[in-house]
Amino acid sequence: MALDFSSKQTALIRVDYNVPIKNNKILDLTRIEASLPTIKYLLQHKITVILMSHLGRPKNVDMKYSLKILIKPLEKLIGKKVYFSNKIDFKSMPLGSVGLLENLRFYPEEINNDPAFCKKLSKLGDVYINDAFGASHRAHASTYGIHKFFPNKKYKGLLLDLELNQINKLKKTNKSPYTIIVGGAKIGSKIHMLQSFLNTADYILIGGGMAFPFIKYMGGEIGNSIFQEKELKVVESFLTKAKNSNTKILLPKDCVVTRDITIKTDQKIVDIMSIPTQFMGVDIGPQTINIFKEVIMNSKAIMWNGPMGVSEVSDFSHGTQSIANFIKQVTLSGAYSLIGGGDTVSDVSRLGLKQAFSYVSTGGGAMLEFFKNENLPGIENLKSIK
Ligand code: 3PG
Repeated sequence: MALDFSSKQTALIRVDYNVPIKNNKILDLTRIEASLPTIKYLLQHKITVILMSHLGRPKNVDMKYSLKILIKPLEKLIGKKVYFSNKIDFKSMPLGSVGLLENLRFYPEEINNDPAFCKKLSKLGDVYINDAFGASHRAHASTYGIHKFFPNKKYKGLLLDLELNQINKLKKTNKSPYTIIVGGAKIGSKIHMLQSFLNTADYILIGGGMAFPFIKYMGGEIGNSIFQEKELKVVESFLTKAKNSNTKILLPKDCVVTRDITIKTDQKIVDIMSIPTQFMGVDIGPQTINIFKEVIMNSKAIMWNGPMGVSEVSDFSHGTQSIANFIKQVTLSGAYSLIGGGDTVSDVSRLGLKQAFSYVSTGGGAMLEFFKNENLPGIENLKSIK
């Protein structure tokens, strides 16, 4: 049953406004823009809207991660005043207006999925809408625990519906060669998801921060590149399974290294197996770009998540830019391309390439997780609003 617009109601919407921010500036508005169809649709029907989201991974109140930074861009995009509350409360908001709650992760109860906190949040709305595809793999209070307080009034927002349809297209593809490209720094939460692509994808190309635990496991010297000891076990299990699969895993051969990302002169290209002490890998090198190019240019279906280096620094964005351009070219010749992840989307926006892919998802980890298990905690048993 679709949402009932007959009475004056308040919709509590979980959105994913975990946007990339640098020097107090939002680098990319994609996630906010993507939430507009649901918000505007509800406002047209005179529904009051309360938006809630996380930003970053603060453990407690930390004003560096305040959602106040979103008020102005939101007001501009919605064309309406946005009421902000740093409490779980909205007393003085007129009917049909828009409210925004402070960062949910300022409350440890959010990620602990605390029942009392879920209940408190649920009091804010008559209906609950999840439009945060990007956070739907988290069983947190606002994405999961809250559901039980809206037994017949919990819905998927328009963005969430669209994301599920588009990602399912690639999930069900029988196009081949099928290539997965992963990078970025959220290694811990992504690496275990790669297993679901074994035997489904023909190639998995691993770059960016994701590559270093693999290189370390294979006995390479990785200097100061990002890495955590506990990742070695996951890498081992993945590589063992990969060996018995028909998916080829490709790792970088070379990389750009520096001692300090702010010193322009201190950069060189080295063999990825021998990164000098005190240096860290910050981009894939030219040899790797060529190897990845060949695979991408022959692919018929591609999924890409995570930059190939510290792509927000222009000196280290060459690998990411090259991958984006190869995918663009192959998409023009008929391949299906799905890209996702906050940083990746921000990169392709900056490069003016957002329209060059078959679909750009607002989800990063959630997109990968969805390939593994469609029943993400945040999307179970939700109805469509239309
Ligand atoms: C994302 O950026 O992938 C989502 O907003 C989820 O963020 P999280 O990994 O901090 O839960």
